[in-house]
Amino acid sequence: MSQFLADYSAFQKQFVDADGCFLFDEQGKKYIDFLGGWCVSTVGWKHPEMIKALDEVKKNAFYIPPSYGWPEWEHFAKTLIDIAPGNLRRVFRATSGSEAVEFAIKIARATTGRKKIVSVERVYHGHTYGAATVGNCLSPGISPGVPNMVKIPMPDEFRNDFRLTGEALSDRIAEIFEAIAAKGDVAGFISEPIFTNAGVITPPSDFYKKISAICKRYGILFIMDEVASGFGRTGKLFACEHFSLEPDIMCLAKGLSGGYASIGATLVTEEVYEKNHDFPQYSTFGWLPNDLLMTKANVELVTQKKLWENSKTVGTYLKELLMPLEKFPHVGQVRGHGLLFAIEFVTDKKTKERDQSLAKKVLEAALELGVVVDNCPDGIIFFSPPLVLDQETAKQGAELLIKAVSQTVHEEI
Ligand SMILES: Cc1ncc(COP(=O)(O)O)c(C=O)c1O
Repeated sequence: MSQFLADYSAFQKQFVDADGCFLFDEQGKKYIDFLGGWCVSTVGWKHPEMIKALDEVKKNAFYIPPSYGWPEWEHFAKTLIDIAPGNLRRVFRATSGSEAVEFAIKIARATTGRKKIVSVERVYHGHTYGAATVGNCLSPGISPGVPNMVKIPMPDEFRNDFRLTGEALSDRIAEIFEAIAAKGDVAGFISEPIFTNAGVITPPSDFYKKISAICKRYGILFIMDEVASGFGRTGKLFACEHFSLEPDIMCLAKGLSGGYASIGATLVTEEVYEKNHDFPQYSTFGWLPNDLLMTKANVELVTQKKLWENSKTVGTYLKELLMPLEKFPHVGQVRGHGLLFAIEFVTDKKTKERDQSLAKKVLEAALELGVVVDNCPDGIIFFSPPLVLDQETAKQGAELLIKAVSQTVHEEI
């Protein structure tokens, strides 16, 4: 029995070692790591350059309090500013994605003097109170959340109450947003460019153009949560680039360290910064020297090797291999964007009711066959392999996943 409180672990399986794109269990069995730590892994596990970076960590085994400075903080902030989309110029040093989001919410309120934050239904933004309230994990037991948080529907073309797609869907949801924005009390709009946690849902191409135009019109700060989608996951360095978005505030974590450190960051424009000189905030372990040196090494590898290009090439190849799964009567949709994937199981293709029991069985079969994925949200097999995944391993993993589905539904494709 687990000794942990609020334990999230859904599976009995324990892993004790990892190498590149592989994980190993206590019996020494080798698994293809298609999950990559849930949008975390970039350069893969035990990367030789990351092992070398540990030497730098050894030389810098100290702590600098936030009221003083450390030159590496400045250098790395500049690195992030240089690669970030748009006009982001200042950085908050956080320890996680939730903290990066929490800070974004606070600074949006402090900058505008308004209270309301608008977000998109079904999106996960983290576990702290503000993040949980704008996100999808405010369970009844911990309610109420932070006041003045409002949601608009997700522009999900596969499944939405309006039965609309494309521009018509964007227009409908933008109308809902504009009705809220027009009241003049909205501080910020927060969302993910591509809805990772909701099951890899890409909004219609014009959706964010419409939303960001409304933000500009009503003085609302446009916040992009790139905690999961950033650092090459979707085939671009940042997923904002797919839609040419220039956020006022951007949240980073996960792929920022590639799983080698606990770190996050919130980036803001100079205009946001200018309005917040009297808003002092710190996180005791934000950009701890150990964490920062590992993170710096990861970001250098991602940018030097342009790992988003491999994400796009191998991701496209892997998606082609997996698309035939849609021929199965209970596979509603196969979705992929770079190295970010979801396979949605349904009880019936017409009603699109999610089949969680089937998804769970497929996951168990996949694990037995030697490929690690996740089953979240309900009815969905989710995976996000390390960005260094090669075509051969992608092919092996795809074959095992297809076999796992065939075995579970007792059918061949
Ligand atoms: C989009 C998004 N935002 C925020 C978070 C919260 O990040 P963390 O778990 O590092 O607090 C997550 C984590 O899954 C996420 O996917």
